[in-house]
Amino acid sequence: MNINPYISRRNALLQKLGDGVAIIPTATEKQRNSDAHYAYRFDSYFWYLSGFNEPEAVLVLVGGTDPKSILFCRDKDMEREIWDGFRYGPEGAKQEFGFDETYSIAEFDKKLPELIANRTTLWHSLGHDAVWDTRIAAGLNAVRAQTRAGKRAPAHINDLRQLLDAMRLLKDAHEISAMQRAADISSGAHVRAMQASRVGLHEYALEAELSYEFRRNGADAHAYTPIVAGGSNACVLHYVSNNQLLHDNTLVLIDAGCEVAGYASDITRTFPVNGKFSTAQRDVYEIVLAAQAAAIAMIKPGNAFVAPHEAALKTLVQGMLELKLLQGSVEGNIESEAYKRFYMHRTSHWLGLDVHDAGEYKDGEAWVKFAPGMALTVEPGLYIRAADDIPKHLANIGIRIEDDVLVTASGCHVYTTAPKSVADIEAVMQP
Ligand code: GLY
Ligand code: MN
Ligand code: MN
Repeated sequence: MNINPYISRRNALLQKLGDGVAIIPTATEKQRNSDAHYAYRFDSYFWYLSGFNEPEAVLVLVGGTDPKSILFCRDKDMEREIWDGFRYGPEGAKQEFGFDETYSIAEFDKKLPELIANRTTLWHSLGHDAVWDTRIAAGLNAVRAQTRAGKRAPAHINDLRQLLDAMRLLKDAHEISAMQRAADISSGAHVRAMQASRVGLHEYALEAELSYEFRRNGADAHAYTPIVAGGSNACVLHYVSNNQLLHDNTLVLIDAGCEVAGYASDITRTFPVNGKFSTAQRDVYEIVLAAQAAAIAMIKPGNAFVAPHEAALKTLVQGMLELKLLQGSVEGNIESEAYKRFYMHRTSHWLGLDVHDAGEYKDGEAWVKFAPGMALTVEPGLYIRAADDIPKHLANIGIRIEDDVLVTASGCHVYTTAPKSVADIEAVMQP
């Protein structure tokens, strides 16, 4: 494992802490039922700064004239390692991950008061994890109890996310390459699902193809619960049951992406179950595809985050008018928000360690401006629920097309490559 990116990020953060101390715990293991736990996923902030994937760990960064990174982690324990697997232990973690000091997690509560005493600022993501909030408050109180011995508790408790979210918004080379790998594997998985699609399969059969392709290529996991939505299920935005039959002459919408080295990909493709678009399906599809192209064309340094959304929305509303789903003008329907009946979500979100990644969207009142290294999705859609006033040939068509995009110095790079033109999808689905 290349630990240099993690060390660089710790050093960059240490520079911003002043004489303060930052505390970054990892995620707690979560019980699913009885003796079973959910698959463990580290905390994204902790991972960003450590590359350390064991539970029961906390990183402490001590700023000031003698900056230090300290890890508290589980001890080695032969009995537990026989049951659950390898643990680095403090010594191993120090050697492998480049921390200045490491200690047993059992020592954390005792050491915390001395680490934060007489520091101006404690940096912590208050509200992120209630158990850690309580633990850190206890450490503060332990310092306050020593006031007469000349100890002072930090006067300021600052939100560490302010600093870390700004760092995470701009991806470094290591992150960009992990995101490209995740995008490559996920693109292949969407092709595999297209090629496996048959009338009469269940949605979960396509989900299985995605999972197979993710894991056989070494992806860690799905980055989020996959959506495999046949026919009208595509009009349910967060449909995740994935247990219905796929019917002839319908579309299937798949929103699925894998995670690699902690980094998410997030792709949606919509294609005909039988491999051939009908005229109505194609008409709607081409509108969404054109909206996506219009949005991607707006992604370049200096443009506002909202510019792709505005471009996509204009194209979608124009399309809704052509399909006679709406009447009036593009501007009028945008003003009245009548389009929200058919397009009720926004077009983009930041992408990175979290599928909806850290990072502000506004800077004061103004939308954040794109800069090289930012990564986002572009995911316009049209969802036409059946209703009395909806023409039969359009009813129950739900389409979204989603790709992952990196802002570059000269414009943008689309990470994801799964086919998306009508011709390319039909070609790849040919038996
Ligand atoms: N897959 C989650 C999203 O598209 O935002
Ligand atoms: Mn998305
Ligand atoms: Mn998605």
